Amino acid sequence: MSAEQPIDRLRLRRETEEAEETPLDRPRRLRRMEGLRRLVRETRLSADDLIYPLFVVHGQGIREEIESMPGTYHWSLDLLPAEVEEVAGLGIPAVILFGIPAVKDAIGSENFDEHGIVQEAIRTIKKAVPELVVITDVCMCQYTDHGHCGIVEDGRVLNDETLEVLARVAVSHAAAGADVVAPSAMMDGQVAAIRAAVDAAGFTQVAILSYAAKYASAFYGPFREAAESTPQFGDRQGYQMDPANAREALREVALDIEEGADMVMVKPALAYLDVIRQVREAFDHPLAAFSVSAEYAMVKAAAQRGWIDERRITLELLTAIKRAGADMILTYFAKDVARWLRE
Ligand code: PBG
Ligand code: ZN
Repeated sequence: MSAEQPIDRLRLRRETEEAEETPLDRPRRLRRMEGLRRLVRETRLSADDLIYPLFVVHGQGIREEIESMPGTYHWSLDLLPAEVEEVAGLGIPAVILFGIPAVKDAIGSENFDEHGIVQEAIRTIKKAVPELVVITDVCMCQYTDHGHCGIVEDGRVLNDETLEVLARVAVSHAAAGADVVAPSAMMDGQVAAIRAAVDAAGFTQVAILSYAAKYASAFYGPFREAAESTPQFGDRQGYQMDPANAREALREVALDIEEGADMVMVKPALAYLDVIRQVREAFDHPLAAFSVSAEYAMVKAAAQRGWIDERRITLELLTAIKRAGADMILTYFAKDVARWLRE
């Protein structure tokens, strides 16, 4: 067709209608202007969805950036009130705490110490911003000298012996004022053990967010630098899930719900969107997704080189996690996102 010869739109249309007996479907009509796009948008990211991870350390005046996670810091408790006031001020409803203890030993004693770093951080935050939801990670790897998520004997991670320690940790967090405890050790029966112990101690109001489907993932690399929790021998494949398995994730979630989990989690998020979707379809419990440290680090590294648009990439990734079915997202981008959504 030459340039002078315009397309006979009416004829084209008539032919189409005759051929299909319906007018041409034109999805572009609703993409024409931002107002229409807003009206038909299916997934909306909100500050309400976000949980901000915080790393807390002993000491004074510490706000130390984690090298592989630019914009994420180790905080000492004196600087914590200002930080959580900012988090709450941005409309983020919750934080999750990770503690770096003063000393590590075989059973991770500081983990259940009334005056451990996390216990003190909970009190500090609750005093500064009582309405901010405080979630605690309940695991052993940051606290043990061997870096595993449980008690180790002859090179094996013991399951049932570990449950007693995890229960003790959860009770100490509840006693310090935690609103939600989040067991992440991937020990069988950890949710039931924690529920029973926390209830027996009188903290029936404390909820459990279980890291139900937590994979043995390379995406935790930067976190292990941040939390000094790299296993000193072997790896976590004997207790965390095989990345190849999705049906098994449904079984893990079902077990944790039976054991009393109030909310369940899939972790990591980005490489497991299919798992998030399947869990969403099979269960009605609130579902969290942890967009983990390497998901953050990859975006930061590429953005620093000017290779990607950090803001657009981040919003697209987090929207995808919600679209897959997550109700809430744990992300190191929480503050940035809350700010961007306000602009
Ligand atoms: C502790 C724990 C880990 C993460 C959260 N809790 C590390 C691990 O299991 O090795 C990972 C978080 C992240 O990478 O952002 N068990
Ligand atoms: Zn662990």
